[in-house]
Amino acid sequence: MSERVYIFDTTLRDGEQPPGISLNVREKLEIAEQLARLEVDVIEAGFPITSPGDFEAVKTVAQKVRGPVITALARAVDQDIDRAWEAIREAERPRIHTFIATSDIHIERKLKKTRDEVLRMTEAAVRRAKGHCPDVEFSPEDATRSDFDYLCKVVEVAIESGATVINIPDTVGYALPDEFGKLIRDLKNAVKGLNEVILSVHCHNDLGLAVANSLEAVVNGANQVECTVNGLGERAGNAALEEIVMILDTRYRSLGRVTGIKTEEITRTSRLVSYLTGYPVQFNKAIVGANAFAHSSGIHTDGMLKDKTTYEIMNPQRVGLAQCRLILGKTSGRHVFRRHLEDLGYTLNDEEFERTFARFKTLADKKPQVTDEDLEAIIADEIYVGEEAYRLENFTVSCGTGITPQATVRLSKNGEVFEETATGDGPVDAAFKAVDKTIGLKTNLLSFSIGAVTGEKEALGEANLQLEIGERRVSGRGVSTDIIEASLRAYLNALNKVVSDR
Ligand code: KIV
Ligand code: ZN
Repeated sequence: MSERVYIFDTTLRDGEQPPGISLNVREKLEIAEQLARLEVDVIEAGFPITSPGDFEAVKTVAQKVRGPVITALARAVDQDIDRAWEAIREAERPRIHTFIATSDIHIERKLKKTRDEVLRMTEAAVRRAKGHCPDVEFSPEDATRSDFDYLCKVVEVAIESGATVINIPDTVGYALPDEFGKLIRDLKNAVKGLNEVILSVHCHNDLGLAVANSLEAVVNGANQVECTVNGLGERAGNAALEEIVMILDTRYRSLGRVTGIKTEEITRTSRLVSYLTGYPVQFNKAIVGANAFAHSSGIHTDGMLKDKTTYEIMNPQRVGLAQCRLILGKTSGRHVFRRHLEDLGYTLNDEEFERTFARFKTLADKKPQVTDEDLEAIIADEIYVGEEAYRLENFTVSCGTGITPQATVRLSKNGEVFEETATGDGPVDAAFKAVDKTIGLKTNLLSFSIGAVTGEKEALGEANLQLEIGERRVSGRGVSTDIIEASLRAYLNALNKVVSDR
């Protein structure tokens, strides 16, 4: 068995499905470029048939991102497969990923078909995909609740029809690790040709076992793992990329399997995905949580001071957690600033650059040490606003004991300026109501939180929220040293997603 495990990242497809996440083309491209820097083997860029926006995003990623295989998802029907191919055909290394459910529950109740029909659809879908593209992945959805003999038959037909990758999904996160490991082993023994293709797994986290199940599959011979950054994904999410990768890295002597991931890019990738999706990372999340490498108890810190290996099984630098780097001061000029942004991998247009530079200067006035993390947070705020977006120009609030909170907010859009004043239960509520008056959308605030980007007293504040607007749920995120401004930016970030889709 080869020791290499391929990392298939589905952050832009399965990871984009949870409520409130809605990435535009620019955001998807930015994440895909970071995934390429992380050196994932495959990027699943989307599900092109689902919307013109997703089609456009997949097409842009396929045209621009070099290095990883670029794949797109398609149900086992001609229209989906042709659309997926249309989106990825310009990729350096395209792959079509087609799927159909194989459990009786799904076949009878969801698809309203028979097993024979599904078998015929599998063959037709893989052949059609193969007609477009040499690299074809096939997934029998809900494999872990499928009849084993039938599953073997479907997989065999997919391979005979030309599939180069077979992916076994635990779609509903139901399997236990030893069951899933046995399924992989049994399939390898039972299905002709399975050892000649890539054998992949795709585990969901409904019982918190996605990573354990993926690992057990690898131990039993799988050589591709499908996963997402920060474990994002449908319901409880997918297997977390950073956890799979760092388990294989840290426990190489026991497991003997390697990935091609540039682990030093993990932290930055996690932050970018969190910023752009508006899904914060829990503090105690393995590998990328704010506390993952923090030691606070007296005994632990004492041990760490004597020898780091007492309580540290991974070097934080291995996942790209450098100590806060002092990068630029308030006297730094445009040239140095632009060079530094380019070193970080960002190419901003002139307008984006000017706005980012102005915010950097304001921050540098308040905060002696501006770090890369601060800059990434500001850039995520500034450059991902669509052209049709409302922008925050300025605002004032008045509040205090015995005063009704009042806010005046000035916004601009396409050169036009709007200003409204409103009162509310508190200064943030008043500011949101002033925005509502301008934009005229009815919103329901589902969640709202404020935190700090970095730990210092002068840190940038980060606001995260989710809104319900009509049938849609959207998340928003904003940063500023002023928490009302951060909240307003988060609110506009969410609203703009709906405005730009109109
Ligand atoms: O969870 C699942 O079964 C999927 C397939 C489309 C691979 O996401
Ligand atoms: Zn899935």
